[in-house]
Amino acid sequence: MIDLRSDTLTRPTEAMRAAMAAAEVGDDVYGEDPTVNALEERVAALFGKEAAVFTPTGSLANVLAVASVVEPGQEVLCEASAHIARAELGAHGAVTGVTMRTWRHPSGAPDHEQIADMLAPDMGPYFVATAAISVENTHNFAGGTVTDIEDLRRLRSFADEAGVAVHVDGARLWNAHVATSTPLSAYGEVADVLAVCLSKGLGAPVGSLMVGTADAVATARVRRKRLGGGMRQVGILAAAGLHALDHHVERLAEDHAHARLLAEALGVDPATCPTNIVVAQRPDAPAFVARAAEAGVRISAVGPRTVRAVTHLDVSRGQAEKAAGVLASL
Ligand SMILES: Cc1ncc(COP(=O)(O)O)c(C=O)c1O
Repeated sequence: MIDLRSDTLTRPTEAMRAAMAAAEVGDDVYGEDPTVNALEERVAALFGKEAAVFTPTGSLANVLAVASVVEPGQEVLCEASAHIARAELGAHGAVTGVTMRTWRHPSGAPDHEQIADMLAPDMGPYFVATAAISVENTHNFAGGTVTDIEDLRRLRSFADEAGVAVHVDGARLWNAHVATSTPLSAYGEVADVLAVCLSKGLGAPVGSLMVGTADAVATARVRRKRLGGGMRQVGILAAAGLHALDHHVERLAEDHAHARLLAEALGVDPATCPTNIVVAQRPDAPAFVARAAEAGVRISAVGPRTVRAVTHLDVSRGQAEKAAGVLASL
């Protein structure tokens, strides 16, 4: 079975397991885990930010990140199929009291005109105050699409003029970085706060980070603990993240090449699939997924008429070619 349901399915490599076993650890709630501290410092520096905080999941990193720029009762604007709107099970409303309004864009990108029409940073006691704009890069449900850095810079100046913050859900920002050669620090410049994951394309078993100012991260540490996310000798997991940063970033280009094979097989223009996710329309997505599974390829239905295939560290070139053959035959 070739499993293309998600890039979260990867299992740690032998070398990653060895790095985990050798990790120096301490109690991270006391700030005394040297491996977690090293990971947080390294990731903050990569994005040119003051600080970062390690979280068990990308969802928690997003909740902490959005809450750092949006107060309860205020709103964040995001694209309609953004992970924060669609797949975090309402956490931003249920847990941190954030409301959302969404724009629509076929590739998940910021639509400046719609955003300008929606923005309401200060309409007194009449309308919810917009406090932030959120961009997902790469965009999961739109098919691993990349928002160009120039587009993000435009959004940044627009947000500055309006006095609102920019949040980047960068669960797969590493993929955008590799696909476009945009420095990670450039992504840091356009965002007030980011969430990045180590457990997707980078192949770590667990782990994400919220990245931002020292003050925002200090508050996020309190909220993380309040929500039960204060972890102890978690350097054992941070070591997997450090190993992934050393060894699994540049190789994402292989996943991107494999995804282009799948795109062609599914009848999708490979030029619209710049990274590791392919989204295709089928009249009956669950039926197509079932037929693919019978033929030895697991993909997902992410909507009634939408299927998704994701390449990752545990899919070799040979497997990608084989899966492409199966999908094309269906
Ligand atoms: C774009 C994006 N953001 C955030 C997340 C949340 O990550 P986690 O599953 O670790 O909570 C995901 C998960 O797939 C994602 O695709």
